[in-house]
Amino acid sequence: MKERKGIILAGGSGTRLYPITMGLSKQLLPIYDKPMIYYPLSVLMLAGIREIAIITTPQDRDQFRRLLDDGSQWGLSFTYIVQPEPEGLAQAYLLTETFLEGAPSAMVLGDNIFFGHGLPEILAAADAQRQGGMVFGYRVADPERYGVVDFAPDGTVRQIIEKPEVAPSPYAVTGLYFLDGSAPERAAKVEKSARGELEITSLLDMYLTDGLLSVQQMGRGYAWLDTGTHGSLLDAGNFVRTLSERQGQQIGSPDEIAFDRGWIDAEALRARAALFGKNQYGDYLMRLLG
Ligand code: DAU
Repeated sequence: MKERKGIILAGGSGTRLYPITMGLSKQLLPIYDKPMIYYPLSVLMLAGIREIAIITTPQDRDQFRRLLDDGSQWGLSFTYIVQPEPEGLAQAYLLTETFLEGAPSAMVLGDNIFFGHGLPEILAAADAQRQGGMVFGYRVADPERYGVVDFAPDGTVRQIIEKPEVAPSPYAVTGLYFLDGSAPERAAKVEKSARGELEITSLLDMYLTDGLLSVQQMGRGYAWLDTGTHGSLLDAGNFVRTLSERQGQQIGSPDEIAFDRGWIDAEALRARAALFGKNQYGDYLMRLLG
């Protein structure tokens, strides 16, 4: 069985955060002490994924490369892929068909932040499921803004609807998709929606129709943070700050995860820590070395 590969979708126009994102990609903005993309990257790493495609706009690619390099500093391997126009989330599977080589994948949106006790375990369970797809449903107060799960009375999933006017349930589908190797082939059959995008929900519905989609609930003990508005961006930063300062532990540190997993050794971590000089993040990495 092929190893699961990762995809971080970090393109898009970011218009909702203008003027900030007129000169900078949304996924490079700070969430407290780290660039936004560190958080979804950490999620893929926690799922044990080491080979990752990073999809960006043509104009932002070099900046992502400057920040993230080839991944070897974390024992990872990054492939940069350009999405010429933001034509929808499902397009990511067309762009990564060659990269995936038929392997199963986990795609995470570059602006999705997850936090919660037991996250590595639910990610491992998702990875273990090799056939079909798995997505995560999360209860929110404003489901109309997302892909929403429509449950039948017996609790089975009937449909996943993109930004419905009236939400059939309060469960949004988060931006983390574990799909099997058939995703590119299925994505090729997705037709553009009324808003002109290849919708991820259309792709998920194909899996659903074939009885191949499981929707796993991510319970209230998890935080799935929104970064879609100026206010929620600030809230996400404050959340990370509050928790990490209270606990004295980092949230979303690729350096820590790589070291924990044994993907980099103490010498490599020390070299990374040295890069950050005497700032808090550098001190934290030094402390990991004991
Ligand atoms: O965050 C979860 C939601 O993400 C899901 O519940 C929805 O089903 C899904 O469609 C998506 O909804 P959004 O309205 O948040 O999608 P948005 O257009 O904001 O794009 C999400 C991220 O993906 C954003 O960081 C930009 C990036 N993106 C988006 C598009 C359309 C790309 O890189 N390329 C694209 O073509």
